[in-house]
Order: sequence, then structure tokens, then C-alpha cells
Amino acid sequence: MIPGALAPDAFRRLMGRWATGVSVVTARDRETDAGLTVNALLSVSLDPPSLLVSLARDVDTLPVIDRSGWFAVNLLAADQRPLSERFARTDPSEAKFRGVPIHRAPHGTALLDGSLGGAECRVVSRTAAFDHVLLVGEVVHLEAGRDGPPLLFYRSQYSVADAPDQLRLPPGRP
Ligand SMILES: Cc1cc2nc3c(=O)[nH]c(=O)nc-3n(C[C@H](O)[C@H](O)[C@H](O)COP(=O)(O)O)c2cc1C
Repeated sequence: MIPGALAPDAFRRLMGRWATGVSVVTARDRETDAGLTVNALLSVSLDPPSLLVSLARDVDTLPVIDRSGWFAVNLLAADQRPLSERFARTDPSEAKFRGVPIHRAPHGTALLDGSLGGAECRVVSRTAAFDHVLLVGEVVHLEAGRDGPPLLFYRSQYSVADAPDQLRLPPGRP
């Protein structure tokens, strides 16, 4: 390894040890919905309520957010893993949303039915960060969804917590 240069794979493996939930970020521009799976999500402030998502510079959803100025986050339940897989693909947005039950937040973004909760956000800051863009959104509408175990992502695999103190890890992982 070149001194001072860190291999991206080593960094990916390190951050894989940081367990996260999984969300789908959606946006709408005119009549078109876009969306992608995101685990780089964090709460920023309580007053006003705001959150941050980190999106790769080249994802198709980013220009839709840039044009509209709005996005929504949907916190996925464990049984919504197929949605996480679907929204992580590079399919056209019509294919991603086909047959997915949604309802509309007040500013038109799609909230996925059956999620643990959702928030519609107005973009208040956009910062380039290397190959990603950090978007801070002020939450203007939120919905608590159903109760249930969350979908988790850990060591590049999906996991499920059966109960708050019981994490079910994929087989073969220490
Ligand atoms: C569990 C998981 C988490 C992901 N988290 C992010 C993320 O935080 N930011 C990001 O830009 N892409 C993330 N991705 C990758 C995007 O979902 C993927 O690149 C997607 O195809 C982009 O869709 P789009 O180009 O239609 O917007 C994640 C994928 C998975 C499976």
C-alpha cells in the first residue's frame, strides 16, 4: 500500500462494522418519482427538526432532489427488505415504483406504505463531499408508521433485530 493511501475496501469493511438502519429516499419532479436505498442517514437537529443524507454524486435521484428542492425518507421495517433491494438497483424510476403502495406527503414526495415512519424534508443545505453530496433537510412533515422490527445493515449484509436486545446476524458471521 502506498504510504498515506488507504484502500477503499479496507474503509468499506471498517464502516461495515457500523450497524445502521435502512431507508429509502424518494423525490418527485413534476410527474416523475425517483428513489434510492440509503443507510447514510442521520438526525441533525431537533429545533428545527432536520436530518442529513449522503448521496453519491452520480445517483439518478440527486438531480430530481436538486430540481424539486424536496426529498422524503422512509424508515424500512425488516419485512421491507425486497424494497431495499429494489431501490438499490439502477433501474429506471418507473420500474422501481411499479406496484409499490405509496401515499403522498403534502409536497408530493412518495411515502412507502408499511414503513416504520417517514419524513418529508425541504433541502436547506447541499455540500459536496468528495464523491458524495451531503443534503440537510428540514423536516416539514412526519409520520410515525407501524411498529415492528427495523431492517438493519451490518457488515454489508441485512440483519434483523428480533427484539431490542436480540440482534439476528446473518449465518457464518462472528
Ligand atoms: C443497504 C444499502 C445502503 C445504501 N446506502 C446508500 C447511501 O447512503 N447513499 C448512496 O448514495 N447510495 C447508497 N446505496 C446505493 C444506492 O441505493 C444505489 O446506488 C442506487 O442504485 C441509486 O439509485 P438511483 O441512481 O436510481 O438514484 C445503498 C445501497 C444499499 C443496498
